[in-house]
Amino acid sequence: MNQKIDIKNLISSQKPGWSLDQRFYTDPDIYQLELDHIITQNWIFAGHESQIPDSGDFKVLNVANESAIIVRAKDGSLNAFANVCRHRGSLVCLEKEGSTRKFSCPYHGWVYDIDGKLIAARNMPSDFDKADYSLHQLSIDVLHGMIFICFSDSPPSLDGAKTDLKEPMAMFDFENLKVAAQKTYPIDANWKLSVENYQECYHCATAHPDYAKMHTLTLDDNKRDRVQAHMIEKMEHCGLKDIEIDCIDIKAPEGQQGYGYSRTALFEGYKTGSKNGEPIAPLLGKFKDYDGGASDFALGPFTFLLAYSDHVVAYVFTPIDIDKSECEIYWLVRNDAEEGKDYDKEQLMWLWDITTETDKTIIVNNRKGVASRYYKPGPFSGMEDAESVYIQWILKELAERISA
Ligand code: FES
Ligand SMILES: [Fe+2]
Repeated sequence: MNQKIDIKNLISSQKPGWSLDQRFYTDPDIYQLELDHIITQNWIFAGHESQIPDSGDFKVLNVANESAIIVRAKDGSLNAFANVCRHRGSLVCLEKEGSTRKFSCPYHGWVYDIDGKLIAARNMPSDFDKADYSLHQLSIDVLHGMIFICFSDSPPSLDGAKTDLKEPMAMFDFENLKVAAQKTYPIDANWKLSVENYQECYHCATAHPDYAKMHTLTLDDNKRDRVQAHMIEKMEHCGLKDIEIDCIDIKAPEGQQGYGYSRTALFEGYKTGSKNGEPIAPLLGKFKDYDGGASDFALGPFTFLLAYSDHVVAYVFTPIDIDKSECEIYWLVRNDAEEGKDYDKEQLMWLWDITTETDKTIIVNNRKGVASRYYKPGPFSGMEDAESVYIQWILKELAERISA
C-alpha cells in the first residue's frame, strides 16, 4: 500500500480526546513529515536580545537536523544564518555562543563575515565569485526583546501575536529583561511526549508536590475561580488588567502562528514561584506590587513562557531526533537586577529545575511504555484539554500537508 495513504488513514483514525497511536512516536516516515511540515515550519524561541548586545555577538540554536547562527550584524540588527558551509556543507560555527569578527569553517577554511558574506576561499577557480556563496539567511523576528527564528523561507505570520500579545508583554517589560540562568535538559523521548507533558497538569498533583503547593492549576475550575477573583482584585489595585487570549495553534487563522495568554492565581501566601512564596527578584515592568499570579504565554508549538511578578521562565522544547528532544529553560529577571544582591541564581532556578528533572523521568517512562506492544491509546481526563487540542493541531497540520 502507498505509504502516504497509510499515514493519511492513520491520521483520520485517531480518536479526538484520546492519546495518539504508537506510530506517531516511533515511525520514521511520520517523523520525517513532522520535520518537513511542523518542526522547520514554525517559529521557535532562540534567546533574548540582551544575550547578544554587540556587533559580532552570536549564539547557535540546534533543532533536529538544523543549526542556526544568530548574530548581531555590523549595523546592529540581528540576522540568523544556516550554520552550513557553502563549500561542502560542514557546520561552520562549533561554539554555542561567543563574540567574533568572522566565522571560519573548520573544514577547509572558508571565511564568512558576521553579515554572512563569504570573504575568503583559498585556491578556487578564477571564475569563482564569492558573492554567490553567502550563508543561507533564515527567518528571524523579535518580539519585545525575545528572539524567534524559523527554518522556513515563508514562515507563519507573527502579526496576530505581535498585536495581541503587545499589552501583556509590555506588562512585564520583556524588552528590558536579561537571562540570569539557562539550562538544557536532554530528554530521551520523542518531542511530542515532552510538549504533551508540559500541556497538562493532570500529573502535577502526583508528580510535583512543590509546584502543587503554589500553582492552582491543580484545582478544578470552581475552586480556582475563588482564588482567581482575589488575584484580579490585587491586579486592579496595581493598575493591571486581567487579559485572556486564546488563539493557540489550532485556533490561529490560516497562515498565522498560534499564540495564547492567561494569568492564573497562585495559592494564598505565594507572591511568586519561590520556595517560601516570598519575592526572589525585583518586580518586573508595570507591577507596583505582587498580585500573587503567574502568566502563561504560548507562541508557536515549541515555546512557552511563565511570567511571575518578579521573573520569567522561558520553556523551549526542541526536537532532536525521533526519540530525543531537549527542554531549554531560560530564567529572566529585570536587566538592572544584580546577582547576589537582588537575586540568587539557585533560588531563582529551584522550582523549575526540580520540576523539570521530575518531568524528564515521567516523559522517559511514558516513552518506554508507549513503545510496548501492549500500548493502546487511552482517554484524556478533563485536565488534559490543552494537550488534546495540541494533538488535534498536529494531526491537522500533517493531514493538510499530506494531501497537498
Ligand atoms: S566545508 Fe567549509 S570550507 Fe569546506
Ligand atoms: Fe510536569
